[in-house]
Amino acid sequence: MWRNTADTYGLVAVLLHWLIAAVVVGLFALGLWMVELTYYDTWYRRAPELHKGIGVMLLLTLLLRLGWRLVNPRPRPEPGQSALEQRIARLTHRLLYLLPLLVMTSGYLISTADGRPLDVFGLFSVPATLTGLPSQADLAGDVHLVLAIALVTLAAVHALAALKHHFIDRDATLLRMLGRQPAPPASEAAVPAVTPARFHLPGGTHSAGLTQVSFDSRLRQRKPAMTTKRLGLLSSAGACRCAGPRRAR
Ligand code: HEM
Repeated sequence: MWRNTADTYGLVAVLLHWLIAAVVVGLFALGLWMVELTYYDTWYRRAPELHKGIGVMLLLTLLLRLGWRLVNPRPRPEPGQSALEQRIARLTHRLLYLLPLLVMTSGYLISTADGRPLDVFGLFSVPATLTGLPSQADLAGDVHLVLAIALVTLAAVHALAALKHHFIDRDATLLRMLGRQPAPPASEAAVPAVTPARFHLPGGTHSAGLTQVSFDSRLRQRKPAMTTKRLGLLSSAGACRCAGPRRAR
């Protein structure tokens, strides 16, 4: 439940993912808003304090998430994804870990450019380390903005990909990041994997054969689609009880 399994994300990974996603989007909006404030606005000082304090908390949360990720391998990709899709997803996820770290580092370099430590809600402060570089605050500010835009853009593409998985591929990629546990192996006990079955073929032909009953694992949570695949004819004996004429095939 708490830990990832081979099929799905555990509660810790899910909570950390959505907390970080919400804070990243919120901090971006807060940042865009606060740079437009004028000196006489009541939020002129408070908004940057909030932005910085939440940013440091986000950094700590992200480090926690990375640590958890190291001891909790991600679930295997949902079936049906091409090798290229999997590589793009891996690269995107790595960037979604890396970009916030770079955004926060550049933010730290803005705040501490004049040598003052960065205060976090009066709880603790982060000391200045790299200070006094030529135009440090301006340069770090430009880098901060560009990286933040890149992060939010990539997160939007990533979110669209998740929606594509859900609505077009109809797989469980999004559901498992929403904490949905996979169903127990699709009622294998109730439905034998290979069952004898009878077919009524067009033209009144009857035959008996083997039918493989399989549950599509990708759909098992949303659409427990049962597919039948005929393996081969075993006999054509008259076991069929339908009304058509009996004819050996
Ligand atoms: C707001 C919309 C978002 C949606 C709908 C979304 C959805 C998802 C889904 C479905 C996965 C699982 C992918 C898989 O199992 O292959 C995932 C993974 C991931 N997401 Fe998001 N996400 C969103 C925002 C974000 C943001 C803002 C970030 C980072 C700043 C982020 C970072 C990640 C990372 C790093 C992973 C990979 C987790 C792992 O290590 O396996 N996501 N996301």
